[in-house]
Amino acid sequence: MAQLTPLLSAQDIEAKVAAVARKISQDYKDSELVVIGVLNGAFIFMADLVRHIEKPVGVDFVRVSSYGSGDTSSGKHRLTKPLEIDIKGKDVLIVEDIVDSGLTMDFLKAYFQNFSPRSIEICAMIDKSQRRETPISIKYVCHKVEEGFLVGYGLDFDENYRSLPGIYTLKP
Ligand code: IMP
Ligand code: MG
Repeated sequence: MAQLTPLLSAQDIEAKVAAVARKISQDYKDSELVVIGVLNGAFIFMADLVRHIEKPVGVDFVRVSSYGSGDTSSGKHRLTKPLEIDIKGKDVLIVEDIVDSGLTMDFLKAYFQNFSPRSIEICAMIDKSQRRETPISIKYVCHKVEEGFLVGYGLDFDENYRSLPGIYTLKP
């Protein structure tokens, strides 16, 4: 039986998301902000985050599949849902559930760059640092961990646990 150890409660998450959203609202107060969520993992975080940002924002989603096995990404990425709104000249904020190797964020930043936005930054619910393979600057982070496999609040293991309101460490 897999074992779930609580890491962040729904209340912890709410406070962290609100704090990051406050910072985003200040930093982008005079700009045209487009928030782009990475499916599927970011859908819950994205929904909470945009409701805490105190200004109008454009919203879109992309979906990326990475080839490879197990729980690590291989570095070969393919878009299975492309960007659909116009980001030319706009400030893009990529919203991701968890940054691990950093390769997905590297791939997406390069992809968005093709559409000539004014800026691209990253907002991650979780920054998991130990397995980072490429240096990646994450401007907004709700919570940092070194290692471990996390589930809940959008994060899944084989499509399980996404709907849990809190975040847990999964032990096989
Ligand atoms: P990476 O940064 O390219 O290695 O990949 C990040 C993606 O891997 C995330 O968007 C998740 O889909 C998945 N991932 C990495 N670590 C975890 C975890 O602890 N729990 C759930 N998914 C994870
Ligand atoms: Mg993901």
